[in-house]
Amino acid sequence: MHACTPTSISRADFPPDFRWGCATSAYQIEGAVAQGGRGESIWDRFTRIPGRVRDGSNGDIACDHYHLWAQDLDLAAALGLNAYRFSIAWPRVLPGGRGAANQAGLDFYSRLVDGMLARGLEPWATLYHWDLPQTLQEDGGWAARGCVAAFEEYTDLITRTLGDRVRHWITHNEPWCTGMHGHHDGTHAPGVKDWGTALRVCHHVLLSHGCAVRVIRANVPGACAGITLSLHPISAASERSVDVAAAVRHDGLRNRWFLGPLYARGYPEDVWRRVAHDAPPVLPGDLETIATRTDFLGINYYFPEVVAHAAGAGPLDARVVMAAEVKRTAIGWQVSPAALVRLLTRVAADYHPQDIVVTENGATYDDVPDASGTIEDIERQDFIVRHVEALRQAIAQGVPVRGYFVWSLMDNFEWAEGYTRRFGLVHVDFHTQRRRMKRSGHWYRSFLKPQAPPDRVPPPDSEPS
Ligand code: FCB
Repeated sequence: MHACTPTSISRADFPPDFRWGCATSAYQIEGAVAQGGRGESIWDRFTRIPGRVRDGSNGDIACDHYHLWAQDLDLAAALGLNAYRFSIAWPRVLPGGRGAANQAGLDFYSRLVDGMLARGLEPWATLYHWDLPQTLQEDGGWAARGCVAAFEEYTDLITRTLGDRVRHWITHNEPWCTGMHGHHDGTHAPGVKDWGTALRVCHHVLLSHGCAVRVIRANVPGACAGITLSLHPISAASERSVDVAAAVRHDGLRNRWFLGPLYARGYPEDVWRRVAHDAPPVLPGDLETIATRTDFLGINYYFPEVVAHAAGAGPLDARVVMAAEVKRTAIGWQVSPAALVRLLTRVAADYHPQDIVVTENGATYDDVPDASGTIEDIERQDFIVRHVEALRQAIAQGVPVRGYFVWSLMDNFEWAEGYTRRFGLVHVDFHTQRRRMKRSGHWYRSFLKPQAPPDRVPPPDSEPS
């Protein structure tokens, strides 16, 4: 069904300044939650509630990256990356959310950034990857408009500290997840379940993004600022008009609810009409702030969704259905590089972002080291090869894709799934903290270092239709 039939794929098929990276986030790897003066985050609190995390675990230790960061950056450098995406834990630098800064926390990120630069890794910093200081949650968290000013202050502190060395800034990671998982279905911290609150949170997060971009530009010479959205190509379960309409509504919330305001079109009217009295309070000037110009759009792409009409199934009367006979990762997410091409061409045609960077893409499989300790994660390798090939196709169609970050450098704490889902190019033994490069990591390395054979890989199998 798709046109993914190249004869080979090579780094040379991409522009020389293309960013090849890996992504991580603070709470998922750092551990050391009570060290170096770090304050409590909403994830520390949430993971303590029985039943919220699949294996009852938390990020207390995670990959112990707080202590092992130098060896982890060595691994990133060994892969041959030229960029590395990481996030800053707000409660590590401002334990109370606002006010007094924690110098030990600022020093940690300063050392980390210096470590990246020393290894030829361009730092791409994410300001908010879901670990809000618990003190701010007690003041209402993202549901309260005051959180916007707190985020501005935090952005000011961090960009004044690191802005002489970090040019690339991502304000938020996946506002949909902050809003909907955190405040509608309650599967993420802070675990609220209220539709109106979720919509208010999304608005405040977007507003804080616009405010932060202005702060970044003021503090960072030559800044490159953007936001990362989780976007999903949506299709209808059938040609029936009710399913088609449900798919449009679902796309409206998943994708257009964020892209619209960010690209100066305001909230999509069709969804706004539906949400009616639950719509967020938009004050004069908010939409202008949200639409503050950015330098790139970050897209996290994992899977497409198929949607059917279902009366009463959530506020939009729409339900995601499991398409039959498609490849899936271990968590059940459909594998579709072809849908990535569709997504990228659509976003470029409809919103004209200056640049697009795929800030996350990756897959979880049940990796088990064999007797010799080798991890033959052939499926993950195939997943990455095919998505890189999709990027090449999108670029050939004129989409301004400038970078690709694999999620993730190493296995880590996968939020509500705990340690049951491995996404890394590097395997982590969570008992010993031993790191082992998986086969997919060896492939990425050989792809990025074309002088080391094999520099070309066979074409991926075509996608089942
Ligand atoms: C994304 C998150 C990232 C990771 C991957 C698997 O939604 O941004 O932290 O959990 O999913």
